[in-house]
Amino acid sequence: MKTKEDYIEKVLYSEEEIAERVKEISAKISEDYKDIKKPLLTVGILNGAVIFYTDIVRRLSIPVHFDFMIASSYDANTQSSGKVNILKNLDNDPKGRDILLVEDIIDSGTTMNYLVNYFKEKGAASVKVCTLLDKPSRRKVEVKIDYCGFEVPDEFIVGYGLDFAQHYRQLPYLGILKRSVYSK
Ligand code: IMP
Ligand code: MG
Repeated sequence: MKTKEDYIEKVLYSEEEIAERVKEISAKISEDYKDIKKPLLTVGILNGAVIFYTDIVRRLSIPVHFDFMIASSYDANTQSSGKVNILKNLDNDPKGRDILLVEDIIDSGTTMNYLVNYFKEKGAASVKVCTLLDKPSRRKVEVKIDYCGFEVPDEFIVGYGLDFAQHYRQLPYLGILKRSVYSK
């Protein structure tokens, strides 16, 4: 059995710190959308955002509908391919809807930039972005972030939904992955 010390360089945010930040963000979203007429269409970007998404939505005091997408600009490694594929689209028609995209991390910005434009073209009434993590040092395309959990350094982060080649998603905290794990 591998231990935490074998793969985690440093814990960036504990379970408790994440929960506290989630509370603040949910309160802000509820406040911003308090006069909404139709339920907010909250769109979780699978698989990375699933834990953050479920924690955020259960604290919202406004009416919401659930939907999910799988969009990928990544292969099973740490390098972005720069290309976005929609592998699973929404079940709802985005036309006329207020959409909140919930993502795990914005890195180059390629995925989120593509999705925001995609929903605007489909006639969404509004599109906002909520991301758990922002890694601004790696940005290639601009993205307007409306709600952000934490800004992180240029390191590979795992846990609380974020993976390395599908591993480590279930860790309850956010940590920096040891370079020795992926630079073998
Ligand atoms: P972007 O299109 O380059 O912004 O990439 C965003 C996607 O890359 C995220 O949804 C993640 O799936 C993945 N990603 C980027 N950085 C990390 C990281 O540090 N840890 C885990 N996944 C990451
Ligand atoms: Mg992702």
